[in-house]
Amino acid sequence: MEKVIKVQDLTIGYGTLTVLDKVNFHVEKSEIFGILGGSGCGKSTLLKHLTGLYLPFEGDVQIFGQSIINCEDDERRTLMRKFGVTYQGGALFGSMTVAENIALPLQEFTDKSAEEIKQIIKEKLAMVDLEGCGPMMPSELSGGMRKRAGLARAMALNPSLLFFDEPSAGLDPITSAELDRLIKRLRDDLGTTIVIVTHELDSVFSVTDRVIMLDKNIKGIAADGSAQNLRDRSENSWVREFLSRAGMKFTN
Ligand SMILES: Nc1ncnc2c1ncn2[C@@H]1O[C@H](COP(=O)(O)OP(=O)(O)O)[C@@H](O)[C@H]1O
Ligand SMILES: [Mg+2]
Repeated sequence: MEKVIKVQDLTIGYGTLTVLDKVNFHVEKSEIFGILGGSGCGKSTLLKHLTGLYLPFEGDVQIFGQSIINCEDDERRTLMRKFGVTYQGGALFGSMTVAENIALPLQEFTDKSAEEIKQIIKEKLAMVDLEGCGPMMPSELSGGMRKRAGLARAMALNPSLLFFDEPSAGLDPITSAELDRLIKRLRDDLGTTIVIVTHELDSVFSVTDRVIMLDKNIKGIAADGSAQNLRDRSENSWVREFLSRAGMKFTN
């Protein structure tokens, strides 16, 4: 299998705080890969290092075979254009319409004409079931619609790799299930590789192919495998228990 992301001996943190110490894992092409763990274990921090937003204390992250750490700033920027990200709480710009939000990366990173951009916006909105919502302001959308609009923006440049941090946080279970279906459809229809940070167990079991579970106590990966397998067969009782609370939110 082709490895889209390779993480080697990655040590990350803030100032004197080490959040994760020498972690190793990889993500394969067209995989929906989950990053799980209790609150504060470093899921968001890890995501920001995978996407080149922060630089690690040590170690390397390779995306499409190229280091996003050991490279020049302009090489990093070029690499960062090849994937889409929605960060936790990452919102749309409230002063712009939905269409203007989606147009932003297209205007910044491509030389597409206004007409072409209009067409792409239409396509992306259709993909996330928001046809006709382009002229609306983010404040006019429901929580679930806003998340989907964020997804449309992350997909504007047709990335073959997408990162989502807690996409269903704050959504009701039905809206959250719809978002899960959308994420799955993206992978099934386009072969997109998807890395998803989540603490919603329903999402974990319905969308991910493979997960890593981060553990604050060991500052590392407690388990790596399919969520079902880990729930039923992990040697680590904490991992089994963590994944057995179906329908409940993690409280760790
Ligand atoms: N900007 C920051 N500066 C300093 N510490 C941070 C910062 N962001 C997060 N942390 C700390 O890093 C740890 C991991 O946080 P985070 O990655 O947000 O966890 P998670 O996403 O798993 O809830 C926590 O102890 C948190 O307090
Ligand atoms: Mg987080």
